[in-house]
Amino acid sequence: MTIFSDAPIIGVSTGSALPRRAWSNAELIAAKGLDSSDEWIKARTGIEQRYIVEDGETTFTLARDAVRQALERGGVDATEVGVLVVATCTPDLTFPSVAALVHGALGMPQACVALDVNAACSGFIHALAVARGLLATSDAGYAVVVGSETFSNLLDWNDRGTCVLFGDGAGALLLKKEPLLKKEPGAEGRGLLGFKLGADGACAGMLQSSAGVARGRTAGVVTMNGREVFKQAVRQMGSREDVSALLGEAGMELSDLDWLIPHQANERIIEAAAKALDFPMGKVISTVAHHANTSAASIPLALNHAVEKGMVKRGDSVVLQAFGAGFVWSGALVRW
Ligand code: ACO
Repeated sequence: MTIFSDAPIIGVSTGSALPRRAWSNAELIAAKGLDSSDEWIKARTGIEQRYIVEDGETTFTLARDAVRQALERGGVDATEVGVLVVATCTPDLTFPSVAALVHGALGMPQACVALDVNAACSGFIHALAVARGLLATSDAGYAVVVGSETFSNLLDWNDRGTCVLFGDGAGALLLKKEPLLKKEPGAEGRGLLGFKLGADGACAGMLQSSAGVARGRTAGVVTMNGREVFKQAVRQMGSREDVSALLGEAGMELSDLDWLIPHQANERIIEAAAKALDFPMGKVISTVAHHANTSAASIPLALNHAVEKGMVKRGDSVVLQAFGAGFVWSGALVRW
């Protein structure tokens, strides 16, 4: 599906939340008794550390804290939010949604829509597309989109091929609908300019949880055909056709793009996809060394990092790009 829109919906501010404790590769290997090494993990994935939740920290608490920070930074009160979408596949409970828990904790109004989106590692961009649609077609003025995950709850700590890859965290983005007749100075041309979303459900078995509510009555653990996922992720995220289509509708080419923020699964996937696009690594945001793969949280965490560090600036053109279990994939063009 391709979505293009002139609706002026702009990014206002970002927020993030990470668990208290970071684990280096060496610490994780020692604590879990893994037959692995810091060198292997760094060389194959670029990951140096990951954050893992401890007592009192859950997908909900991380989401709540990231949303709170985005709202504070944007100078917007929780009571002004009309749309709240949480991207996650590691919710605290099967129901109600993480969004409902955040809504209640932050005192959002009853007129505010609150729902979760599960599109695995692509979840944040999918959630952004859902929020954009709700915001553009309603009387809501603000939306918050948050990717929050605690994959540490879904790992088989005896499977060295998967358990070293993931981490926990949350990233949030506050969006504002600019009334057409009352544009903020400097807002011209900014906003969510387009999306490109797709799926190939025939590949579901390549990367999945081993159980679920209706199959085993538990959440299961991550199982994955790593090599195949690697190949497909590079093929999709490195698709010049898709990225060019996304940019083309806005009258842009790859050389006009200021930043690429890919899903942070593996530094080798990121580098191979950038190479396939012939896009310079100097303009690719990478936080995989620091966060590992945080699934739906990886892109908003990387965006938050890039904004905090002054890399992504007002007016910059940014492509967000994700690929994950399903397979499902997504791209978004944003003028920050
Ligand atoms: N430490 C040491 N050795 C390991 C580890 C580990 N943590 N994990 C696997 N190995 C071993 C394997 O057992 C294998 O040993 P063998 O040759 O004796 O059989 C050897 O390393 C090579 O294994 P491969 O699977 O071929 O290694 P590869 O180079 O493909 O790297 C990896 C594995 C890192 C998982 C890679 O396939 C990958 O990154 N795939 C993408 C997976 C991913 O990112 N998934 C996240 C979700 S999807 C997404 O977010 C896009």
